[in-house]
Amino acid sequence: MTEHGEPIVSLEHVYKIFGPDPGGRAYDLSRAGVEKDEVQRLSGHVVGMKDISFTVNKGEIFVVMGLSGSGKSTAIRTVNKLHDITAGQVTVDGIDVQGLRGSALQTFRREKMGMVFQHFALFPHRNIIDNTGYGLKVQGVSKGERDAEALKALAMVGLEAYAQNAVGELSGGMQQRVGLARALCSDPPILLMDEAFSALDPLIRRQMQDELMIIQKKLHKTILFITHDLNEALRIGNRVCILRDGYVVQIGTPEEILTEPADGYVAEFTQDVDQGRVIDVVNVMHDAVILDASASLASAVDRLGQRRGGFVVDADGRPTGLLSVVDAGSALAHGTTLLSDVLRSEFSTTVATARLNEIYAAAGLGFPIAVVDDAGLLIGEVEPQEIMEEMGRVEQLIDGFEREVFL
Ligand SMILES: Nc1ncnc2c1ncn2[C@@H]1O[C@H](COP(=O)(O)OP(=O)(O)O)[C@@H](O)[C@H]1O
Ligand SMILES: [Mg+2]
Repeated sequence: MTEHGEPIVSLEHVYKIFGPDPGGRAYDLSRAGVEKDEVQRLSGHVVGMKDISFTVNKGEIFVVMGLSGSGKSTAIRTVNKLHDITAGQVTVDGIDVQGLRGSALQTFRREKMGMVFQHFALFPHRNIIDNTGYGLKVQGVSKGERDAEALKALAMVGLEAYAQNAVGELSGGMQQRVGLARALCSDPPILLMDEAFSALDPLIRRQMQDELMIIQKKLHKTILFITHDLNEALRIGNRVCILRDGYVVQIGTPEEILTEPADGYVAEFTQDVDQGRVIDVVNVMHDAVILDASASLASAVDRLGQRRGGFVVDADGRPTGLLSVVDAGSALAHGTTLLSDVLRSEFSTTVATARLNEIYAAAGLGFPIAVVDDAGLLIGEVEPQEIMEEMGRVEQLIDGFEREVFL
């Protein structure tokens, strides 16, 4: 899931100071480690970005997350040079962005990136298809060609039926979809999305997140996604960068952020997150004990060792039966000797890429869960107890932090 291509966007030690003399005293103070508030007090300048470095790899969804005012929008705006930077370097596809001017800058923006913002301004007097194809129109693409592309893009966001509608006839969520279609229409390799879903109702927002992930899988775009919502960040990000007061606190996979928060600030954020959403089955599964269906019950129990159960598989390797220690115990007590008499033919299965929250309910039954590959072959198992422990571990970590900080 995290195997992506080479770097396509990189920020190296980028500073952005707002004020009349950005490279002056405020910059020196910030570089010397003085905090944002203090810099402002001493110099009257605002630190937008302080020594920010990160790399976005081709084909990944890289999320920048932080509270309001932490520098997210400033950071994304350095990528298309809506802001000049005070120091550092921004590189996109080998191009030094800061050096771009005039028509070179326009061409760069047009060819390299599409943008979607929170309040996406559609042209109210143009219909949906014209709004969608607007970028192509600017590029001088013929009406026939851009309508074809716009329809394709609208189909991708489920709105092809609305191509001829007026903007006012669409809901806010639908308009935001048009914004996404417009960004996709000219087929740029990079999408910049600044709080693109933040104004949407939770349900619609989730749908949009799902759709974005599907589109991403299909089109392999590189997406730089900004949000102030950690749940959203962890849900859609391959990697997440957490900002605070203009500097980077942590960069990591959702799992790393949750299980190894860089500091108390990150840990505090993670309290509200449903841990099961971000931990994959692959991280808690292990080899399954495979039992011989014709074996005696006693020898099968021996094979289980400390495990809560084992599986019988068919000739191809598909799991066909589960022996649980609980069943085995009571069967032995009743004098049963054949394994086949005690096997359960109904048991839960999952896949390695599933998230733990998807198997909560199954784990609640108390029996081992078979992990199978795409062909249905047994590749491992997860034990319910371990799922609970994995959850508990993260909660303890956060509890521990809370005690440390607040008590
Ligand atoms: N044009 C500007 N002039 C002065 N300060 C600005 C400007 N744009 C942003 N800032 C300040 O920079 C900091 C980061 O802002 P921003 O990047 O918009 O944060 P976010 O997108 O994370 O909410 C904030 O303190 C904000 O007030
Ligand atoms: Mg912002």
